[in-house]
Amino acid sequence: MRSVLKPKMFQFGITTLCALACLAPAYAEDATAAQKAVELRQSVLKLIGWNFSPTIGPMMADKMKYDPAVVQKDAARLEALAPMLPDAFQMDTHAVSGLKTKARAGIWTNMADFKSKDDDLIKAVAHLSAVARNGDEDAFKQAAKAVSQACRACHDNYRED
Ligand code: HEC
Repeated sequence: MRSVLKPKMFQFGITTLCALACLAPAYAEDATAAQKAVELRQSVLKLIGWNFSPTIGPMMADKMKYDPAVVQKDAARLEALAPMLPDAFQMDTHAVSGLKTKARAGIWTNMADFKSKDDDLIKAVAHLSAVARNGDEDAFKQAAKAVSQACRACHDNYRED
């Protein structure tokens, strides 16, 4: 019995090692590409946050004086950044372990909904941009709230706390 089993187990071991050795480079490549994809999308989101949280957010909450010129500038940047999100989330990274990401797997199983959440943001920042050019402060606050709600709607569904 032993003499039959041993070579088989040995063979199994070799086969497994071979398989692992062959898979390892492909796996490392996937992990590197996934890490880059995470960095890219987080960069876009950092820029989105940077053009909202230090200026529009506090102005909306009466913690900073309303400055239409600043809102115009930041809203224009948000108009450029918001449409990048679905592209930046193109690579499905949910199965790759060891990534520092708060993205939920649902993004890639509900991409149509994820995109529609981004469409809501795109519409909200376009409106904010128009209001910063033509509206008064109350209209600005309404428009800024709609933007922050669009951020939250996506985070509630697709970002870990
Ligand atoms: C369509 C979905 C979606 C919308 C809309 C959205 N976000 Fe996010 N946001 C995410 C996801 C998903 C993450 C987590 C990404 C990750 O960790 O890989 C995130 C992460 C972030 C981060 C952290 C980035 C980092 O890693 O440092 C900031 C800041 C942020 N969002 C700000 C905002 C703001 C401000 C808005 C609205 C103006 C907004 N987001 C709108 C999906 C969205």
